[in-house]
Amino acid sequence: MMDLKGRRVQKSFEPETGLTILDLALKHDVDWGFSCSRGTCARCRCLVTEGMDYLAAPTDEELDRLEPEELDQGFRLGCQAKVKQAGHIAVAYKPYF
Ligand code: FES
Repeated sequence: MMDLKGRRVQKSFEPETGLTILDLALKHDVDWGFSCSRGTCARCRCLVTEGMDYLAAPTDEELDRLEPEELDQGFRLGCQAKVKQAGHIAVAYKPYF
């Protein structure tokens, strides 16, 4: 199960491998901010609180855009982080502002 918490909307559904957190938020009508969809604006930033192991490793764009401390804390870019395998994943939308 995947729990996504947007600005106001929160939904739970079965995660689909190969899709990004942003893809899934849009598909399930969770209110997620984004702009570039290429890993540069960070409008889609979010905090993974459970199931990081079920997501693919950070992309080069995430490594460039996020500080090492943010990655350590579980922050990812929604447009970059893809589901790798089914499992319990919980993510909250957490932009800088
Ligand atoms: S939408 Fe711009 S970094 Fe994800």
